[in-house]
Amino acid sequence: MKRLSIVFFILLQTACIRSNRTESKRVAIEDSMLLGSAAVFFKSLPAHAIADNDPEVDAKVMLGHFLFYDRRLSKSGTVSCNSCHRLDRFGMDNKRSADEDEGNSYGRNVPTVFNAALHNMFFWDGRATSLEEQPGKMVLNPDEISIPHLGFIVNRLRADTMYQRMFRSAFPADDIPVSYGNAKRAIAAFERTLLTPSRFDMYMDGDLQALDSEEKAGLLEFINTGCAGCHNGVALGGTSIQRFGIYTDYRTLAFSGVDDEGRMRFSGDSADRDRFKVPGLRNVQHTNPYFHNGGVASLDSSVKVMAKAELNRALTSSQITSIVSFLNALSGDIREEAKVDPFRQY
Ligand code: HEC
Ligand code: HEC
Repeated sequence: MKRLSIVFFILLQTACIRSNRTESKRVAIEDSMLLGSAAVFFKSLPAHAIADNDPEVDAKVMLGHFLFYDRRLSKSGTVSCNSCHRLDRFGMDNKRSADEDEGNSYGRNVPTVFNAALHNMFFWDGRATSLEEQPGKMVLNPDEISIPHLGFIVNRLRADTMYQRMFRSAFPADDIPVSYGNAKRAIAAFERTLLTPSRFDMYMDGDLQALDSEEKAGLLEFINTGCAGCHNGVALGGTSIQRFGIYTDYRTLAFSGVDDEGRMRFSGDSADRDRFKVPGLRNVQHTNPYFHNGGVASLDSSVKVMAKAELNRALTSSQITSIVSFLNALSGDIREEAKVDPFRQY
């Protein structure tokens, strides 16, 4: 009897192991299928977003770091890039829109500068096509009323012996290293280092355990719902212009106070009405409030708005929770040095 029960016990164990094996095989197959589908839409971050192989890159990045935090780049001497694109706050200011008196009459929300180097168009309407081309709002921007002419800022920089030295080592081939163009090049070089690797990247690189089962379910939901049709590539956006409100006018959904017609504003083409850049979604958990007007406070609500406006779908609250848990897994680490104001060290 005893022997029999031992045999029975062993048989039972083997059956369990077998069914566990079948179960884990099934999970493994599902896992690799999901990664396969994800690989159709997304890519992991490169180590650096620096495209050209530039030997002076380090010197440019260091100079760009100083310029990014330098308030002397604004006429009043009170605003730096970092005032709006706070690097200790995921590259924005968490305000609804940048202050109007700071030259932002469109009431547009500050987009993050983190991972922006991976985009191929800039601003909410994609009107700039390179990081170098896009001038800062009010800072370093001759179009803004507050800066009388380009030389105004450049003269300030030329007067500083630290900058003379830094521009010379960043642009050794130039006869006149301290220039407006070079200041923009250095800031862009710094911005190219502002990448935030996340668990999602580990997952895309083949570590199937880097996302938990809820996040994986969210990833599948994100793909199946159709979000990945627009939010794709390495930044999950940043590469195309789409109408905000394909099915429903965005103004009612996104609580817009200002009537912003998006790209039409600068192209003048009525076909561009309400067309905006598809923003990247890395760190979106931290970059509230949402949309070009900062009109929606929570990520849950913005997912709901998107599904309605762009896909004509009413998501259930569990679908929303699932997608949001995936979006949260896109949050990455900010390089500590970038958060440090270099002027504080002097
Ligand atoms: C007063 C706040 C403010 C300051 C200061 C400021 N910006 Fe911006 N920045 C914005 C706003 C608002 C936008 C979006 C404008 C739009 O879409 O029309 C923007 C857009 C950008 C973008 C495009 C991001 C994207 O994903 O499209 C980059 C890059 C950028 N700024 C970098 C800078 C740099 C570099 C400086 C300093 C030279 C700077 N900004 C200064 C508010 C500011
Ligand atoms: C047809 C293209 C398209 C589809 C499909 C789409 N989006 Fe968007 N998404 C956009 C555009 C364009 C914006 C910017 C709208 C604006 O603010 O003007 C945006 C903005 C967002 C934002 C706000 C980001 C920020 O920083 O303010 C989130 C979050 C978002 N989308 C998530 C989703 C989710 C989740 C889905 C699927 C349910 C989805 N999107 C489907 C085009 C799309």
